[in-house]
Amino acid sequence: MNLDSPQINWPNLSKEEKYQGLHVQWSGLIDPSVDAVANLSNASALLHSIFQWWWVGFYRVEGKKLILGPFQGPPACTSIELGKGVCGSAWAQSTTLLVPDVELFPGHIACSAESKSEIVIPIHTPTGEIWGVLDVDSEHLNHFDKTDQMELEKFCRSLEIIL
Ligand code: SME
Repeated sequence: MNLDSPQINWPNLSKEEKYQGLHVQWSGLIDPSVDAVANLSNASALLHSIFQWWWVGFYRVEGKKLILGPFQGPPACTSIELGKGVCGSAWAQSTTLLVPDVELFPGHIACSAESKSEIVIPIHTPTGEIWGVLDVDSEHLNHFDKTDQMELEKFCRSLEIIL
């Protein structure tokens, strides 16, 4: 398999086609024989190369905090408390949070002034505990919709086997 797939012109594809491509490529890339760091590094690189989001990456639960994991984009906050910001709230509520305008989200943590909208999806282990979250930021307002939510939740479910 050609991992960087130069033959695919991602920017020309519709959102639905990009997610189709994501699921196909990820099923070839995911490797249960290695650890979460290796797999999530590839996951963030694949998501970023397909969608060109401002920031995409993972935070993992360590005690009462979320700690920065593999990501693509500018440097980010290394630690977020339970219930704080969009990430900590998605973790505390165990639900996806879709934020069309980050300035209207009470307590939003601005790791980058460029970030205008955000979606955060909890990631569960096979036993149902929250392992961490997938966080995606856009430099555009109102960038994420229900299709992103549905497809990214599906993507996060596929991660269970490597956690
Ligand atoms: N904005 C997030 C913090 C993480 S960065 O966006 C990478 C939040 O409010 O939790």
